[in-house]
Amino acid sequence: MTLQIGIHDIAIATGHYALDLALLAPVHGVDFDKFRVGLGQEVQTVVAPDEDIVTLGAAAAQQILARHGSEGIHTILFATESGIDASKAAAVYVQDLLGLPSTVRAVELKQACYGGTAALQLAAALVARDPGGRVLVIASDIAAYDLDSSGESTQGAAAVAMLVSAEPAVAVLDPVSGVFTSNVMDFWRPTYRSTPRVDGKLSISVYLDAVEHAWKDYEAKGGHSFTEFAAFCYHQPFTRMAYKAHTRLLEINGCAATPPRLEADLATTTHYNRRIGNSYTASLYVGLVSSLDHGEDLTGRPVAMLSYGSGCVAEFFSVTPVAGYRDQLRADANRSLLAAREPITYDGYRQLRMRARNGSDGDVAFDTVTTGRFRLSGVSDDKRIYLSLAR
Ligand code: COA
Repeated sequence: MTLQIGIHDIAIATGHYALDLALLAPVHGVDFDKFRVGLGQEVQTVVAPDEDIVTLGAAAAQQILARHGSEGIHTILFATESGIDASKAAAVYVQDLLGLPSTVRAVELKQACYGGTAALQLAAALVARDPGGRVLVIASDIAAYDLDSSGESTQGAAAVAMLVSAEPAVAVLDPVSGVFTSNVMDFWRPTYRSTPRVDGKLSISVYLDAVEHAWKDYEAKGGHSFTEFAAFCYHQPFTRMAYKAHTRLLEINGCAATPPRLEADLATTTHYNRRIGNSYTASLYVGLVSSLDHGEDLTGRPVAMLSYGSGCVAEFFSVTPVAGYRDQLRADANRSLLAAREPITYDGYRQLRMRARNGSDGDVAFDTVTTGRFRLSGVSDDKRIYLSLAR
């Protein structure tokens, strides 16, 4: 019998504040409908000064450890494109915060928003080599563009943690995937910059071309036929991007991309992203959790996954939910997580951004704002100090 490998558990976390984009629209001199309808974004998460990719990632992973313990976990793969250190892996801080044993391998991966998918595929390969072991995959990002730039409406923050194992309780990672890599300058962040350089319009057209190339590679490798997919999840820098990408995929496959067809295929995958904003590496998997939390029973029915990371790498693959997966979901908790964020005014958000450290400000102690279990209490001698508050 073939060994089934995939997602044994999946959990999400997001930041403390919620910025209603209706407050951002007048600052940009546009109608809110440009964001709400044109981009498909209503709210974006804004992190507190005592939150970062580590605290978000640990908060997502903690939910998995609380349910499954740490037994068998031998590797943490932490994917991010908003890294806090050019050398030290965020995974090492997470190993410490979660109290995982020192025998755990901890490493960070990067390729823009694609990094989480690279981590998932590498995790599956590690489990294939040692089926008794488990790998903790974390995708965690804070998307922040220059103030007053057009990218500001597509910011956000979230983390997704996945426990990858043999005989998974949520979904099997199907073995075929189609890949496309091309050296393009649509989005990049040199190490001396805190915000990315981005050619937004180019990034959309490159994303769409990458969908086509990755799908063709997937087809050539003998994946599922297009009609077999029960749902579709895309990387969502903004939720309308999923509609653009799915339109391209439908057309390639000779199907009419009518509004009812697009809604039927995509509505369930956008609920959380529309209210979190872009979460880079986590975004595709936030979309998957949204689909599982809101969709019909997908047991045994492949869900198409399209991962895109600017620069660019794209991958088309699928996951197939297994019997009983619905018992593993945290739909009520996820909805509460989003609803519990503290609303922030535009001025409050702008002050937070203006006060953000640029990395050379010396020692700092952050006020306690987050109500989460993990917080960044300060920076001393260029060392980040994290706290885990007992519950
Ligand atoms: N009501 C409804 N829709 C409206 C509207 C209104 N009042 N005003 C504008 N729109 C629509 C536009 O027609 C457009 O839709 P379309 O793309 O289907 O044509 C959409 O809103 C966005 O408008 P646009 O003028 O293109 O927005 P922008 O110049 O602010 O740029 C991004 C949008 C996404 C390019 C920009 O936010 C960005 O660079 N983001 C970061 C990079 C990114 O997310 N890239 C995605 C691929 S990785």
